[in-house]
Amino acid sequence: MSKYLVRVSFVVALGGLLFGFDTAVISGANPFIQPYFEMDDWTLGWTVSSVILGCIVGVVIAGPVGDLYGRKRPLILVAILFIISALGSALATQLFSFIGYRLIGGLAVGAASMLSPVYISEVSTNAHRGKLVSLNQLTIVIGILLAFFSNYFLVDIPEDNWRWMFGVEAIPASLFLVSLFYVPESPRWLLLRGEQKEANKIWKKLHAESEGEKLTVINESKLNFKILKEWKYLKWILVGVVLAFLQQMTGINIIMYYAPNIFSTAGFSTDNALLQTIVVGVVNTLFTLVAMRFVDSFGRKNLLLVGTVLMFLFLSLMSYLFLSGQQQSMITLIAILGFIASFACSMGPVLWVVISEIFPGEIRAMASSLAIMSLWIGAFFVSLTFPSMLSGWGGGYSFLFYACCNLISFFFVWKFIPKTKGKSLEEITELLY
Ligand code: BGC
Repeated sequence: MSKYLVRVSFVVALGGLLFGFDTAVISGANPFIQPYFEMDDWTLGWTVSSVILGCIVGVVIAGPVGDLYGRKRPLILVAILFIISALGSALATQLFSFIGYRLIGGLAVGAASMLSPVYISEVSTNAHRGKLVSLNQLTIVIGILLAFFSNYFLVDIPEDNWRWMFGVEAIPASLFLVSLFYVPESPRWLLLRGEQKEANKIWKKLHAESEGEKLTVINESKLNFKILKEWKYLKWILVGVVLAFLQQMTGINIIMYYAPNIFSTAGFSTDNALLQTIVVGVVNTLFTLVAMRFVDSFGRKNLLLVGTVLMFLFLSLMSYLFLSGQQQSMITLIAILGFIASFACSMGPVLWVVISEIFPGEIRAMASSLAIMSLWIGAFFVSLTFPSMLSGWGGGYSFLFYACCNLISFFFVWKFIPKTKGKSLEEITELLY
């Protein structure tokens, strides 16, 4: 891989870092914003979920915008929205404006969650695409970790510490904005627009030091919005939509968002909540690196199959421990970390790789945005229902529910997910359509 390609991918993957930071920052700020804005639990729940609602809207808008205006310009807008949201939330004095600025952050997260992986897949070569798109998942989990650490260090600021927690996000967001100006437009998107000369120039620069795969685009001029009526296109969009929803139904965010609740239900003391969250974040990061190492050799489908089985087993073990009253043990901790590691090696990164590969160029942004919208709807559903599920059903049946969802995912992947490793985006299109 050329150094330029790696640099460009890193810059665009900063979108993932802000995605992770923005979704995680609120957990540390909750105890302070609740009294400041005089919120009851219900209002707090809605304030937290408002980001996810913003994500749903953001990813829907980003689809057609990405197909019409390219990947780079919308990403610049996304960076600006992140800065506005960070500073606006930090300075808000009214609940109404605070929620408004969090919604703007959600729009940015939603749009970034589609544009970054799609861009990276379009500049990559076949042999490294899995690894490079997974870079986006790596930056998501690093962003989550950064938010935990920054909340930890800022919590002792005597007055209005929460303002700093939100405000610091403007630093990586500004870095993202400035660096984006040094990134080229996606050559594949340019080629689809008929700008062949410019596309080839960028492609050559990106792959100067590598073997130099040719930039080819099969004749996709026949592709337009009408194709959505054709079953063969609709089928793959449905596959993307279901897989993205299933990524959330693995139950990853019951741990990411509610780890302290789970630990305290299991009978562990809450004093170590921060330590536990950091351990969860570190395991998530390390095993995402493992996935990056294997995604291009072991293959996307194989990682998904192994990962979903392991997640099923770890969650079943947790369910058993809770049902038999043995939850307050080291094994619970090991099961949780085993579950996180299995997600990080499979559904975490691989979902984004598959989504960025299975749609033809002309509708890639729009179709990906539909799929990722279903991911955010899943996230909304999980974050809204889990607290009452845990208190109503208890840990045993809650984990059993998510274990079963992983079993469904296994069969879905087995039946519907194509093998795409090592193929060019255009070869995948020819294979599937
Ligand atoms: C998921 C997020 C999740 C994150 C954590 C992402 O792939 O889409 O919902 O919080 O991974 O690892």
